[in-house]
Amino acid sequence: MGKQKNASLSFPDGSTGGNFPVLSGTVGPQAVDIRSMLAETGKVTYDPGFLSTASCRSSITYIDGDKGVLLYRGYPIEQLAAQCDYLEVCYLLLFGELPNKEQKLEFDTKVIRHTMVHDQINNFFRGFRRDAHPMAVLVGTVGALSAFYHDSLDLDNPSHRDISAYRLIAKTPTLAAMAYKYTIGQPFVYPSNSLSYTANFMRMLFGVPAEEYQVNEVLVRALDRIFILHADHEQNASTSTVRLAGSSGANPFACIAAGIACLWGPAHGGANEACLDMLEEIGDVSRVGEYIEKAKDKDSGFRLMGFGHRVYKNYEPRAILMRETCHEVLGELGLENDRLFKLAMELERIALEDDYFVERKLYPNVDFYSGIVQRAMGIPNNMFTCIFALARTVGWIAQWQEMISDPEQKIGRPRQLYTGQAKRDVVPISQRG
Ligand code: SDX
Repeated sequence: MGKQKNASLSFPDGSTGGNFPVLSGTVGPQAVDIRSMLAETGKVTYDPGFLSTASCRSSITYIDGDKGVLLYRGYPIEQLAAQCDYLEVCYLLLFGELPNKEQKLEFDTKVIRHTMVHDQINNFFRGFRRDAHPMAVLVGTVGALSAFYHDSLDLDNPSHRDISAYRLIAKTPTLAAMAYKYTIGQPFVYPSNSLSYTANFMRMLFGVPAEEYQVNEVLVRALDRIFILHADHEQNASTSTVRLAGSSGANPFACIAAGIACLWGPAHGGANEACLDMLEEIGDVSRVGEYIEKAKDKDSGFRLMGFGHRVYKNYEPRAILMRETCHEVLGELGLENDRLFKLAMELERIALEDDYFVERKLYPNVDFYSGIVQRAMGIPNNMFTCIFALARTVGWIAQWQEMISDPEQKIGRPRQLYTGQAKRDVVPISQRG
């Protein structure tokens, strides 16, 4: 977007420096372009965790954390979740506009026809222990895909980038379902092109060769909406990982595997599994107060999983939609009195009345309710982050593609504030005390 007046810095010694353009986007905070700062002032900025640092220009997703707004290519998440399916949102994130009927049919067909994986990949699973965490399997097998597609790893070739995008969006659910089947000792269920993307995934997850899988459209719609809610989210940790890996020219399969690895952390996409484990540990509403106090005690090392967010300082729209989905799914399954759901709502109520959480603007995030609804659908806790990963694959790819085609993009190479030893000479070991 257009440049504004330039900014400069004044330093404690009275000197001033820099001539930094102030950039404005469509909406949201302006950015001070400090790329010339080291050259002009001999100083670098210091921003661990990137609290005040924009790493790129992007036109994909926008979050207003204070207002609790989330837009994919300008469309509010609430409207997309209500009116679109996940592959429609994939198309939007990748190409910038919602598809018409013909474009959607062509896109859906192309994705569905790439859901099978090379049969050799089945052998990868045999090397894992049966009790391997499905995320460990997913990181390994998605990264291994690059060993099967030497025909499309030329990043300068748009058609290679394009086919890799389809392959990753289509095959990640297949690999996630295979990871689950392997851990429970059931045979892999091959994808069926006669089903929708999400129904296909549910059949690969829950189907068995011994009987016809019965699709429950209410649950399919609910899981499809969960995919939409997780599809992209600006420059979060895993997306930034994908961009950084991609900035070196690494192939897209390796970059997405890096994003999956980062997402696994409990501070990020692993929070949904950690949240359900926490709810199961709390066990009863009578113990909520004890855990709220633990979460407020810095020395406890305990945090309320599924609460808080770097950007949202209001009740985030995904958590609201996820809670609604909870009600729908539990109602469909006759589990309205689900113990953990009631516990979660009571935990939320008490936390949101507590000054500690109110002062820090800590609200439930997307991970707070997603575990409850997935568990009710029969998805085990250790598969929640795999579901998050397969849904976020399209966002990672859209961001990776945007980075590759950004004329300003360079290899990511942050600087540091060095606090180690100044230069000193080695003393021979015979003379060391
Ligand atoms: C995701 O970035 C994204 O967009 C991510 C994501 C996406 O879609 O990609 O939205 C997905 O990762 C959601 C977040 C899932 N993580 C969790 O639910 C884990 C629990 N939450 C926290 O660990 C934490 O809130 C983070 C990591 C989410 C955000 O951390 P920040 O922004 O670095 O905030 P902070 O750690 O500096 O906390 C600020 C204060 C601190 O207290 P003070 O030092 O000011 O006294 O709030 C406290 C923290 O101790 N705090 C919490 C808390 N989260 C923050 N205290 C108790 N429980 C919590 N959950």
